[in-house]
Amino acid sequence: MRPLGPLINQEESVPKPERQVLICANARPPGHPKGSCAEKSSQGLFDALRDLVRERGLQDRVMVNRTYCLKHCSRGPVLAVQPDNVWYAAVTPDDLAEICASHLEQGRPVERLLMPDIPWE
Ligand code: FES
Repeated sequence: MRPLGPLINQEESVPKPERQVLICANARPPGHPKGSCAEKSSQGLFDALRDLVRERGLQDRVMVNRTYCLKHCSRGPVLAVQPDNVWYAAVTPDDLAEICASHLEQGRPVERLLMPDIPWE
């Protein structure tokens, strides 16, 4: 039997993003005690950030994805930027341009939006 070799030629594979932005889009029923990022308009944030990344020509460097709960529900909407392990709390549409320009383009996290160093909820 022939040994398995690499499945992908690394030099010919598609480029990998430098950063991935995870946006919690988790929804819970109205009145749920934990609330959710969806009820705080995280879908709108996802759409706006995806458009902004394209407008700024970052789509080959930055991937934007929706996720389920990122376990900081009371601080939502929550964004996490990987592989930097930088987490943002209570992000609004007005914050996205700064996150794009400072963090996603320059690698400088936006200090004023950082998630406090607290345990997962
Ligand atoms: S619902 Fe978004 S962090 Fe839990």
